[in-house]
Amino acid sequence: MSEQTTEQKIVVVTGASSGIGRGAAIEIAARGMGVVITYNSRPEGAEETVEEIRRNGGSAVALPLDIGRSETFGGFADALAGVLRSEWNADRIHGLVNNAGFGGGLAFEDMTESAFDDYYRVLLRGPYFLTQALLPLVEDGGAIVNVASSAVGPGDTEPGYSGYAAMKGGLVVASRFLAKELSGRGIRVNSIAPGPTRTRLGDNGFERYPEVIAPLAAKTAFGRIGEPADIGKVISFLVSDDSAWITGQDIQASGGYAL
Ligand SMILES: NC(=O)c1ccc[n+]([C@@H]2O[C@H](COP(=O)([O-])OP(=O)(O)OC[C@H]3O[C@@H](n4cnc5c(N)ncnc54)[C@H](OP(=O)(O)O)[C@@H]3O)[C@@H](O)[C@H]2O)c1
Repeated sequence: MSEQTTEQKIVVVTGASSGIGRGAAIEIAARGMGVVITYNSRPEGAEETVEEIRRNGGSAVALPLDIGRSETFGGFADALAGVLRSEWNADRIHGLVNNAGFGGGLAFEDMTESAFDDYYRVLLRGPYFLTQALLPLVEDGGAIVNVASSAVGPGDTEPGYSGYAAMKGGLVVASRFLAKELSGRGIRVNSIAPGPTRTRLGDNGFERYPEVIAPLAAKTAFGRIGEPADIGKVISFLVSDDSAWITGQDIQASGGYAL
């Protein structure tokens, strides 16, 4: 692979057509990094994210990616290499934010193997093998951030979330192991655990059922639910060299949810 010809750091953020991914992409761009965002079903959402970043003077490109289809990751890596070259004259990324995911609960008694496999493919297998597929493109000293959930820790053990939280817990553990395994290249790996955050998660649940917000806010030390920028700022810190001494950690970002 040829030498990187640009000094600009570039970060890939999956699932940035809305919510936390969009918030992260905007905050990462605000730190002067270029951003490659991905979308799945909502290209229009990705376009809005790209436009907002460009309006603020940043650089961003959107690519399609279904994180549940690992057989497409080789093609995605090729497409990514193409936009790195055409947009930034670069051949490496500094960081990868594995954020894409879906939520919504399913009672244990109603769980099917097919629904369980959907959680697995999107929330655990996808980020794990996307990281493997993109690793050759990640520069030494780079950073990987995996978006987990407050549901992994104690205090947020709600009925219906066993499948979702099991995958997020697996992601947290995998992050710690990868932090050690990739440390030889100086690549840091951390996970972040957002608490309830106002996004489109759960088929846009917060907009459809606004009555769920007040009880969640009441359970949060700071008295409100999170906004995408609250989480995005922490993610941008974790991909930046300001957090160069942090690796293998699961960082709670919840305003004190279920303290
Ligand atoms: N909001 C919360 O309270 C909360 C709390 C803890 C953790 N999280 C985690 O935060 C992450 C982001 O979720 P969010 O809350 O920001 O929800 P969101 O607004 O619904 O955003 C989800 C993003 O993931 C993408 N996505 C969904 N399924 C995908 C797939 N199969 N392949 C590729 N991309 C896919 C969506 O793309 P399209 O819309 O283009 O399909 C969208 O960009 C998730 O991993 C979620 O588990 C959220």
